[in-house]
This record gives sequence, C-alpha cells and structure tokens, in this order.
Amino acid sequence: MLATIDIENFRCIESAHLEFDARGTGILGRNASGKTSLLEAIFFLGHARSLRANTREKLVRRGQSFFRIVGQVETPRGVLTAGTEFTGGRSRTRLAGQGISSISEIAEILPIQLIDPSVHKLVEEGSARRRRLLDWGVFHVEQNFLAAWRRYQRALLQRNAAFRSGQTLAVISAWEAELVECGEIVDRHRSAYAAQLKPVFEETAERLLDEPVTFEYRRGWSKDETLADELIAKRPRDLQLRTTTVGPHRADLTFRMGETVARDRVSRGQQKLMACAFILSQVRLRAVTATMPTCLLLDDPAAELDVDNLGKLLKAVDSVPSQLIVTSVSDAGLQGINVVRRFHVEQGKFTPML
Ligand SMILES: Nc1ncnc2c1ncn2[C@@H]1O[C@H](COP(=O)(O)OP(=O)(O)O)[C@@H](O)[C@H]1O
Ligand SMILES: [Mg+2]
Repeated sequence: MLATIDIENFRCIESAHLEFDARGTGILGRNASGKTSLLEAIFFLGHARSLRANTREKLVRRGQSFFRIVGQVETPRGVLTAGTEFTGGRSRTRLAGQGISSISEIAEILPIQLIDPSVHKLVEEGSARRRRLLDWGVFHVEQNFLAAWRRYQRALLQRNAAFRSGQTLAVISAWEAELVECGEIVDRHRSAYAAQLKPVFEETAERLLDEPVTFEYRRGWSKDETLADELIAKRPRDLQLRTTTVGPHRADLTFRMGETVARDRVSRGQQKLMACAFILSQVRLRAVTATMPTCLLLDDPAAELDVDNLGKLLKAVDSVPSQLIVTSVSDAGLQGINVVRRFHVEQGKFTPML
C-alpha cells in the first residue's frame, strides 16, 4: 500500500505531506482546491505520465522549474521509497535509491487504478483506453505478458517502417514472423484474463445497472484465421496504407447491455457505471491473486450520478478490497464507504481532519 506521499510544486500544490490509511482515505475540498491534483500526483508516481494528454511541463507549479513526488510504499519486501522528479523537460524515477529501467518496476509494487469523472470514455471512445485497461490486469497476473507485448510493438514499428521505405518481401516477412510469435502470446494471455474477468464483471455490472451487461474480447484479427495467414492476406492493403491493420494492437472489448452494443444505446450515467464496473471487477479479481492491494483513486464519484446510483457505486466500491483514496466536495460523496482518515484541502494545502 501507499503509506505516505510528499509532493513539491505539482500543479497547485506547493508542498504537501500526507499519510494514508490502509483501507480508506477521504479528501474533502471545494472546487479547484487541489483534490484532483493530489490524485494526479499519485497517478504520476505510478505511471510516469499525466492523466490527460497534458504535457508534463503543465504539471509543474506555475513559476517553478521542477516538481517532485516521493512515496513510501509498503511491500512484502519492506517499505520502499519511490520517487520521481521532473526538471528541464525530463523526468527521473528512482526506486529504493536506484534508477529504474522501466516504469513497470514501480507499477509492480504500486498498482494504481483510477475512476474519475471522465471514466465513461472507456465505453464511448476508441479502443486504446480499453486495451490499456485490459493490459493493466493482464500485466499484474501474467509475468511474461509485458516482454511479449513490447517485442510485438517493436516488430510492428519495423513492419510499418519497412512498408514506408519499400523493403523487400524477405524483410517484411521476417518482421511478420516476430509479430506472429509475440502476437499469439499477447492474445493468449489477454484471452485467458478476459475469460477470468468476465463473470466478475457481469456480476458487478448487474448490481450497478440492474440489467444484464457483458463484454466480449476481440483479439484484433478474424476468428477463423491464424495471425500469420491474416498478415499475408492483408499485405497488399497494408502496403497501400503503410500500416498494419490486423493484430493484437487492434484488440478491443465490446460492451453489451442486453442484446445491444452499449456504446450506441446507453446514457452517460450508464456508461459511467459500466466503466466503473469494469475497473472494480479488475480490482476485485486482482485482490484474489495478488499479495498487495490495488491503490484505487476515486475522483469526485458524485459527478453525473443521481443519489441512487451514487449509493450503488459507493457500495460496490466498499465491497472491493483495495486501498481507497477518494475525493469529494462534500460528505455526501463519501457516504457508505469506510473512510478512516480524512483531509481537508484548500488552495493546495492539506490538513488532517479530526
Ligand atoms: N501548473 C499549475 N500551477 C498552478 N496551479 C495549477 C497548475 N495546474 C493546475 N492548477 C490549478 O490548480 C487548481 C486546483 O485544481 P484541481 O486539483 O483540479 O482542483 P479540484 O480537483 O479540487 O477541483 C486549479 O485552480 C488549477 O487552475
Ligand atoms: Mg477535481
């Protein structure tokens, strides 16, 4: 779990030190007081990127030249210090006093999930968010996934580059062999994870939406072809487009409510609940297998939900084992969840509440 965080010069936060509860911490403050800034700092520590398409420069407090975020993380290996500093256009991340080779080293000890007011985009927008979220879950259960996925992405860049630079068929098919080898591993892990997740999601979603909801995993190429055959078949078209149009980088999830594809039918509020159900089911599934809980960041859950739906969401959140850090403008946004410690925030300053 995330035991403490120290923040300097991050968005509106000049300096902050917070100690979190192992179960639930509430952050209360008016609009524009710094609630989202705190969650974004935690998110940045775990991902080395912004929540939005924000450039990292915009995260530095106005008039300053750097930001720094340091967290103490309790792990089975003891308490580890994870720190990240952004200055001069570069960020540097350290874990237990040493530089890291990949941000996945932090993600492994500090798994973070976020539910914020834009969570409905998971259902509404393009496939990239859905893939990234699915892969978060796969990464945390399957150790070999990340290496295969990285190799796949490298080979993908090479095949596309080969099309652009007019390489020979021999070069292109060599990259295809690599795509097939890694792509099949990626799909196997995703598919196994999706199958495990599905019943957990269906149960969670039905509780939130009072209607049967499900999702279908699509691997990114047709059901009855091998990836190798499909890549060959699509070569002429891919050459024309100078990009690879089939493969696990095109994998997606389709959400359905009853018989209908959710994207076309449901309201914003229902999309939000569906997306929350997906994230909560991932956290729930992870809790069964992992030794460390997920740090679940819940930003302003009351946004766009009526009292009934907010109540259902908070009940579902409370039933999922996680370390919860939740923000709200008022106590109503915290009803029914076990928030042990509370902070009040005003103009980027956090004070513990009694
Ligand atoms: N780089 C920055 N420097 C200074 N202030 C910033 C920076 N980025 C955002 N802010 C300000 O931080 C304030 C708090 O934002 P936010 O954390 O999103 O508030 P809340 O979530 O409590 O509504 C806003 O007034 C915003 O304009
Ligand atoms: Mg906010």
